[in-house]
Amino acid sequence: MECRICNTTLKRFLDLGRQPIANNFLANGDLTNETFYHLEVFFCPECYTVQIGDCPAKEDIFNEEYAFFTSTSEYMKRHFKMLADEIKEKYLPNNGFIVEIGSNDGTFLSNFREHSHLGIEPSRNVYKCARERKISCWNNFFDEELTDEIIEYCGQADVVVTTNCFPHMIDRDSVLKGIKKLLKPKGVWINEEAYLNNILNMTSYDQFYNEHIFFSSVASFRKTMSMYGMSLYAIEQVPVHGGSIIFYTSCTDHMPVSHFGLDYFESIENLDYFERFQIFAEKVKQKRKDLLNKIFPLKGDVVGYGATAKSTTVLNYCKIGNNLISKIYDTTPIKQGKLSPGMHVSIVPYYKFERDKPKNVVLFAWNHMTEIMEKENGRDINWILPI
Ligand code: TMP
Ligand code: ZN
Repeated sequence: MECRICNTTLKRFLDLGRQPIANNFLANGDLTNETFYHLEVFFCPECYTVQIGDCPAKEDIFNEEYAFFTSTSEYMKRHFKMLADEIKEKYLPNNGFIVEIGSNDGTFLSNFREHSHLGIEPSRNVYKCARERKISCWNNFFDEELTDEIIEYCGQADVVVTTNCFPHMIDRDSVLKGIKKLLKPKGVWINEEAYLNNILNMTSYDQFYNEHIFFSSVASFRKTMSMYGMSLYAIEQVPVHGGSIIFYTSCTDHMPVSHFGLDYFESIENLDYFERFQIFAEKVKQKRKDLLNKIFPLKGDVVGYGATAKSTTVLNYCKIGNNLISKIYDTTPIKQGKLSPGMHVSIVPYYKFERDKPKNVVLFAWNHMTEIMEKENGRDINWILPI
């Protein structure tokens, strides 16, 4: 397998086995035609980008039934409001134009109602949600070709934002050419994603699933940007989704860059050599053993909290079905009453959690831990972390 960015032969470090599409929650009648793929994770020794191998077609993932709604988390809404305030203060003039790629249900762009804005969202159901909220958006996949249309109808952008979206886009070459073209000469691209270093430090292997195709370090992102004539000028670490990073990039070199700061960061993150990933892979195997050792003795008296896409990776890798975890509680209406992909654990509405008072709970939505612990404060629960 070759790197999707620089064509170098990749080195595999992790095999998470046969996996279904992570957000493909199933109605009872759908069980017979589930799509599976082989989830393997690779490192590129040349550009340092981590990427999964085989993955289903994007149209099978981002469609009418996409199950992730940004607005389900109050904490994320607050986080995006803060990011929006920073953008308004530093990067977006009052008469400026902002584009969000992967705008989901319009949560982030709802902070820009007074500005000229455009969201690009391929999943029709969440796109419709944003339209109902009077957010300007188009129902498309973003690429270089679409960029020409955006520029024709709306002009170039002062700011392009991607949050938890750039790693999902398999056509990285076309996407990067598009972003570069879309930005005004003094425009900036702000990209937030789960930070590879945190994934390794926390052994959060559940961040690997078909929607997350690429994983970046400062080293890999910087190298990729230079290949496209862009310049990474700053980074910021933020405590969302288990530890994320914001990459600030300009398409010319008009922003002052702290090369010393970035060099220093690269040297401490240490993500440019393969052995680090091999050590991580050994820890992942141990995590599987640890989880099974915790839930086996509970003889099925265990439930899950949050039917996250990440839970699909854990359940299928550890082969945990409804004999070990009886149900998963979740607040998202589109997931409720369905079965989890691959292992077919029932998803039930969150309001039943209060009534059922379960004792042993696997916190699949561990990335929302702060918010959930505030909500469930005072309950007598044996919380089990899946990773
Ligand atoms: P995510 O990890 O992809 O953001 O998905 C979070 C899932 O967890 C989503 O299906 C909603 C669910 N959830 C709850 O059920 N209760 C909560 O309090 C939170 C924050 C999320
Ligand atoms: Zn590469």
